[in-house]
Amino acid sequence: MFEMKQMRLVPVLLLSLLVFGIYTPAQAAGGEEAPEQHWSFDGIFGTYDRAALQRGYKVYSQVCAACHSMDRISYRNLTALGYTEAQAKAVAANYMVEDGPNDEGDMVERTALLSDHFPNPYANKNAAAYANNGAMPPDMSLLVKARHGGADYIYGIMTGYEEPPADHELLPGQNWNRYMPGNVIAMAQPLSDGLVSYEDGSSETVAQYARDVAHFLTWASEPHMEERKRTGIKAFLFLLAFTGLMYVIKRKVWAKVH
Ligand code: HEC
Repeated sequence: MFEMKQMRLVPVLLLSLLVFGIYTPAQAAGGEEAPEQHWSFDGIFGTYDRAALQRGYKVYSQVCAACHSMDRISYRNLTALGYTEAQAKAVAANYMVEDGPNDEGDMVERTALLSDHFPNPYANKNAAAYANNGAMPPDMSLLVKARHGGADYIYGIMTGYEEPPADHELLPGQNWNRYMPGNVIAMAQPLSDGLVSYEDGSSETVAQYARDVAHFLTWASEPHMEERKRTGIKAFLFLLAFTGLMYVIKRKVWAKVH
């Protein structure tokens, strides 16, 4: 028979089973977890690398933007990547957006302004799915936040294309990716070596493009990360100083009590 003392452990055991059960990451059938990479934005002192963000934006705008929208980001936000307002304006001027209706009730096309959000490559969801064999390219504004693994996952997908195992037949329009949950992905490998030209001498390889675009997409889903960390550090320093002050005051107040 169990002793009373041992019985008390039962709820603790049940609770820990529950907690670990909930927090064990669900693993989809097929698809490995993307390996962890080192990023400049890791840790409490981590910051974005402006050069990597600019290269990542270049990869996004020249490659991914053909299929993936990013509707929460506006051209003004590009100043956060280290571009001046004039440069961001010049970038915007390369794009056309729909505006209106004008006085006659018609929608009009005009060049984009700083206040405009990145235009969607497709008129609507149906058009997006139709153009991609029925699979809709997800909006990228919050993709890093929305996916387990974040930047590591984006990097993994970009570098994880491989031949399917011999016993697996892919249907037309399907591709095999080591890190895609379920392994089968409708997107064909969008990157290839030399596809995007870099001016800063960084290597023009799939791995480098993948790193840069993952960096850029992390910024897009958390543009205020640096401020948030700075505020956290300030609050911590304040509390530290406050604790020290309280200690000194306490010693003074109680000094005469024996
Ligand atoms: C030709 C169109 C096309 C281009 C270009 C393209 N994608 Fe995709 N992408 C898709 C489609 C379609 C899907 C949905 C795939 C699926 O659900 O199987 C997708 C899915 C993804 C996913 C997985 C999303 C998820 O739901 O987990 C990632 C990550 C991704 N794309 C990143 C990129 C990046 C980064 C680029 C640019 C380097 C890019 N894509 C360029 C069409 C494209």
